[in-house]
Amino acid sequence: MIFTVAIDGPAAAGKGTIARAVASRFGFAHLDTGLLYRAVGAKGGDPVQAAQSLTEADLARDDLRTLAAGQAASKVAAIPEVRAALADFQRRFARREGGAVLDGRDICTVICPEAEVKLYVTASAETRAHRRWLEVGGDEAQVLAEVRERDARDMARRDAPLRAAEDALVLDTTALSVEAAVARALAVVEARLGRPGG
Ligand code: CDP
Repeated sequence: MIFTVAIDGPAAAGKGTIARAVASRFGFAHLDTGLLYRAVGAKGGDPVQAAQSLTEADLARDDLRTLAAGQAASKVAAIPEVRAALADFQRRFARREGGAVLDGRDICTVICPEAEVKLYVTASAETRAHRRWLEVGGDEAQVLAEVRERDARDMARRDAPLRAAEDALVLDTTALSVEAAVARALAVVEARLGRPGG
């Protein structure tokens, strides 16, 4: 069975939590595509070369979740040759046998427009920054500033800018608990798949 759940949205919107829950419920493979860009940014040197030669070890680094790694990721993500180098891997992953969930910025719009389920997960910048601050700590105002800076860069870039696909279901999690947001996503996938998970 080929079945893709594509999830896009701005920084710290809760895409990863929803993606993991969907993958686990329906037995699909999950790819956090942000990790690819974080690994390219963290590698240093020429980003295009880094993207072309990315390895499992690069993705296993333990410093990819920091705010600095997020900023570096969104800078290299604006380079078309970097995106091109990562596209095939993501497309093959999306259409692999057994079902796949991918979360990122351009999964519904560019990587897998044919996805069976498309979600755009979002929340207010303040809510997202607060959630990210609970994970990374530090100065909450600075976390908010970084979230805004990254969103602006991701939405303004020419190649694959962040935007909701026209046929994506928008899930605004500002006023939703994690459980409620996950439950909505699971219900959408279940309806399209025609069977309950697990
Ligand atoms: O977890 P969070 O939402 O903060 O970020 P992420 O998903 O790990 O993505 C880090 C950065 O990679 C984003 O700010 C984007 O610039 C870039 N990215 C992208 O351009 N396209 C994707 N499919 C995924 C991430």
